[in-house]
Amino acid sequence: MRSLVYYMHMVKRHTWRLLRRLKRALPTAALLLVASAMCGTGIYAYSQQTTAKIATEQSELNRQMSAIDQKIAAAKERRAEEERQQKAADAKEVAKEILATPAANAATIDASRCNATNKHANPAAIDILVNKKHCLQPLNFAPTQLVTVNGATLQPEAATAYANLTVAAEAAGQAIRATSSYRSYQDQIETYGYWVRQSGTAGADTYSARPGYSEHQTGLAVDVAAGSCALSCFGSTAAYQWLQANAASYGFIQRYYAGYEATTGYQSEEWHYRYVGVATAQDMKTKGIKTLEEYWNIPGGTY
Ligand code: DAL
Ligand code: ZN
Repeated sequence: MRSLVYYMHMVKRHTWRLLRRLKRALPTAALLLVASAMCGTGIYAYSQQTTAKIATEQSELNRQMSAIDQKIAAAKERRAEEERQQKAADAKEVAKEILATPAANAATIDASRCNATNKHANPAAIDILVNKKHCLQPLNFAPTQLVTVNGATLQPEAATAYANLTVAAEAAGQAIRATSSYRSYQDQIETYGYWVRQSGTAGADTYSARPGYSEHQTGLAVDVAAGSCALSCFGSTAAYQWLQANAASYGFIQRYYAGYEATTGYQSEEWHYRYVGVATAQDMKTKGIKTLEEYWNIPGGTY
């Protein structure tokens, strides 16, 4: 049996041997540690550099892309502007051609021949009647006073009424906005000419008035829309229903109803409102009369 002293001696010997070996390996381990630390730092620095480089390249690319986008947008805008100007010039030409054909269009160029009854003929009064048989006299009439309220340019009395109407509509949650209001004789030459280009004279005459024949030229008419819903879309909106119920309280009537094309001379326009004053508008509503031609007993229909 070996003694405890022997075992303790053996443990001591092995411990010393181990410590000696560790001492010999220490420089190598330190070297490895330093080397791997340096290597790690190098990799980290490299990756940082690469990330920064990629970010710089990315931002340069973004800058170039946005410069290209801007150039494309500017080119598109230039093109659209050129097209607009071309269209306006075309429309003017067409309108001039039409107006310069006396034989076919005598009534539309001669104010003395385009007021069949001479009733409701004062273009500055709110009881003016304008239709294909009753032009404005003079043809290039312009109101002496116009004011712009809530996007609509109208004669002062109509403008105040329109302002009140739009405030009430908005308060009822049925906001409306004006898309067209006063149009001068020159504006109407362009508008009508544009539509003739689109639909031909016979087509345009069903929905666009010739210059000197538009209610818009009186400063008493306004076209409205609800949000992005304009023209034929407007008739299906809640705002349209609100106007049907309330426009008369502010002196406005829908001028062109469906089913009355032969009387007014135009297709229905749910978006076109004419100021006639509260008394007339409410009386027409009470009596269920849909056109000014019937209410004032004045002929309408075609040119
Ligand atoms: N759209 C209507 C009829 C006008 O041109 O006055
Ligand atoms: Zn209109």
